[in-house]
Amino acid sequence: MKAIGFKQSLPITDTNSFITFETDKPKAKGHDLLVKIAAISVNPVDYKVRQNAAIDTVLEIPKIIGWDAVGTVEEVGSKTSKFKVGDQVYYAGDITRNGSNAEYQLVDERIVGSKPQNLTIAEAAAIPLTGLTAWETLFDRIRIDPVIDQGKTVLILGGAGGVGSICIQLARKVGNLTVIATASRPESAQWCTKLGANHVVDYRNLKKELEKLGHAQVDYILDFVDLKEYWELAADIIKPQGHIVSITGSSEPLNLNLLKNKSVTFSYEFMYTRSMYTTDDIDKQHRILNKIGRLLDTGKLKTTLKTTLSGFTVDNLKKAHQLQESGKTIGKTVIVF
Ligand SMILES: NC(=O)c1ccc[n+]([C@@H]2O[C@H](COP(=O)([O-])OP(=O)(O)OC[C@H]3O[C@@H](n4cnc5c(N)ncnc54)[C@H](OP(=O)(O)O)[C@@H]3O)[C@@H](O)[C@H]2O)c1
Repeated sequence: MKAIGFKQSLPITDTNSFITFETDKPKAKGHDLLVKIAAISVNPVDYKVRQNAAIDTVLEIPKIIGWDAVGTVEEVGSKTSKFKVGDQVYYAGDITRNGSNAEYQLVDERIVGSKPQNLTIAEAAAIPLTGLTAWETLFDRIRIDPVIDQGKTVLILGGAGGVGSICIQLARKVGNLTVIATASRPESAQWCTKLGANHVVDYRNLKKELEKLGHAQVDYILDFVDLKEYWELAADIIKPQGHIVSITGSSEPLNLNLLKNKSVTFSYEFMYTRSMYTTDDIDKQHRILNKIGRLLDTGKLKTTLKTTLSGFTVDNLKKAHQLQESGKTIGKTVIVF
């Protein structure tokens, strides 16, 4: 089968940052499905792994990355029960295994959902990784209850990004929250409004903008940008007994004591935890993807697809990585095979 990978961590502009190669088509065993890939999307984790997996070394076998995928089940392992050959599926995969930048991929069926039927392949490929992250942030980490928590305020840092774009919709339409999203440009601000944000604020003047809105403090803060950059401000503007979730982590130790007097809860969310540790509830990701799929099929949620590239080529993968590395993408970039 054809795959695209890399042997060295090189700048994306380098001729060899990605190479095309042939490798054996894998066989499905146990809980695995063998999926023929039809479309993928690119996330920041893709370029982070590419930039760090082979520094000062040359890998013998090229590394295949990329995790978001839509495709058709071609083979099923002996322990599978959720899907059959021919089913269309979507998933974000497992960071410890080979990725979706290939004609075929093995994936554990317990982290796979049925492709939303009313979406195109490209529209569906935009969703899994960011959808799971946003869902787990709101409903597994904070445990938002749409009745009890109705109208509470959530500040989404990075509203127009991949995760922010789906989270704005889930927080508003499933969580019943009042959504304040950050965006620094007219086009990203418009995107957040279109997705349902109640308010859009410029993060370069965040404290003042929140005060102007009459929301000087908020119930929940979701960091989809950089925890270190926002830690002190978040501790200042979170309400007493509020909850902060970060999906990014910090490059430096942070002062947790800032949260003590307000009894604020802090959680991390890492959407690969369930697959990385084969947690007892690993199949929750199957159920979350199916729930999100139903919300997309019934029009309650919209796809976050912004840019579609046609053709599974090194050039398109480089283009998608370059866009993602800019830190300025709005919504999702998808490559249709
Ligand atoms: N833990 C997990 O499971 C998990 C899952 C997914 C992603 N992540 C991580 O979460 C981060 C976000 O992912 P993503 O896919 O949403 O990223 P993304 O799509 O690249 O986000 C881009 C957006 O970020 C906004 N932005 C840039 N600098 C900002 C700043 N200083 N403050 C506020 N917003 C800023 C930009 O909008 P404007 O400048 O126009 O406002 C842009 O639209 C990445 O670090 C990613 O690796 C973690």
